[in-house]
Amino acid sequence: MNLTVIGTGYVGLVSGTCFAEMGNRVTCIDVDAQKIEGLKNGIIPIYEPGLEAMIARNVKSNTLHFSNSLAENLKKCDVAFIAVGTPMGDDGSADLQYVLQVAKEIGQHMEHSLIVVDKSTVPVGTADKVRETIQKELERRKKAIDFHVVSNPEFLKEGDAINDFMKPDRVVVGSDNEASTQKMRLLYSPFFRSSMDRLITMDVRSAEMTKYVANAMLATKISFMNEVANICELVGADVNKVRIGIGSDSRIGYSFIYPGSGYGGSCFPKDVKALKKTAQEHGYIANLISAVEDVNDKQKMVIAHKVVNRFGQDLKGKTFAVWGLAFKPQTDDMREAPAIYIIKDLVQRGAHIQAYDPKAMEEAKHFYLKDVPHVSYFNSKYETLQGADAMILLTEWKEFRSPDFEELKQQLKEPIVFDGRNQYNSQMMQDLGFEYFQIGKK
Ligand code: UDX
Repeated sequence: MNLTVIGTGYVGLVSGTCFAEMGNRVTCIDVDAQKIEGLKNGIIPIYEPGLEAMIARNVKSNTLHFSNSLAENLKKCDVAFIAVGTPMGDDGSADLQYVLQVAKEIGQHMEHSLIVVDKSTVPVGTADKVRETIQKELERRKKAIDFHVVSNPEFLKEGDAINDFMKPDRVVVGSDNEASTQKMRLLYSPFFRSSMDRLITMDVRSAEMTKYVANAMLATKISFMNEVANICELVGADVNKVRIGIGSDSRIGYSFIYPGSGYGGSCFPKDVKALKKTAQEHGYIANLISAVEDVNDKQKMVIAHKVVNRFGQDLKGKTFAVWGLAFKPQTDDMREAPAIYIIKDLVQRGAHIQAYDPKAMEEAKHFYLKDVPHVSYFNSKYETLQGADAMILLTEWKEFRSPDFEELKQQLKEPIVFDGRNQYNSQMMQDLGFEYFQIGKK
């Protein structure tokens, strides 16, 4: 099929590349000319394992193209995917200006029958708005062209995005038109080699809702567990044991019940807020969803409070080694990362930070911690330790799991570790002579 993917962020770039990998002819479009020029020259704007090689392979085999011109590409396209950003508006709702701008351009330039797919995470009712916007432009042009709007939310995770897209748990297709559903089924069939059972079809509104509910449910599991962790500390229980105890019940399961420094990233914080807002707009107060958000906001600061409890409110003259800045491992993404809030708090109290992250340091330096003084960046985790009063682990990168603990002890002023991701065994740390602080265990 000839596909146009509009928007070269995480979702657009990964989807477009994976569709190309299956032999479709894909053009990825973006208004950012510099980004498109870079992509044509093999410069990938995000770090995502395996993506660079897959893009290069498909560019070489002529299945993947990059362009600034939507008008030009609509001429030869069967399906157009809208995968532009839906940032959080000031009031917490999803800002649809980019989605609707693309819809307008589609209406201005389409010349033949087309399926328009909403792949961006969009609130319920957006497909209707996209349809109306396209229709209005067609009427203005006095054109009667058949088109259908389909909702096909994307569930990929950063850091494992290629794998998620190539071997999806499920693909949700919301459509009110049988021919469009069949076309989507055809497009996705190579991704399900054994059976088609994992393509779930439904009406458009339910598909739009599914994406928000999936993310809000996962965020709820995390906030619930973080709240449990805080209670565990107070009553003298160990949340790591409780997690295993409850996860063994197949109705609960082990995934997404790891306590830590709270969830971050581009999806959970934004989508939880947007779902709350959607409910509110319909006159419903979503208490549980609000609580998920409140618990998460507080959780981001738990490690900072532990540092203050140990070293006092005034951290002047103190230096902390920070291991990990990204909101999770395998990504350079720092959106809503707990590290931002924790580092700002410690610096405000007078501390110096010596930070290291395998991938996110450029993001930190140039965007998220750009205006935060007293933060220095190092090329290895061990270099951050020199003269530091304690080490604070904030992202569970694999290279932090089994460090040289002797080196840690030698370099730190005192052997103190604050672990915001519960990476070490507390008994082992104690036996090694560390003062070890973690989440959910005193
Ligand atoms: C998420 C969804 O998983 C994905 O399906 C959706 O399309 C986009 O949002 P992503 O944000 O890339 O993906 O990361 P994910 O791996 O889900 O982690 C989100 C956050 O939750 C991270 O900050 C992570 O550290 C945190 N988390 C996850 C926990 O704190 N505990 C857990 O048990 C799991």
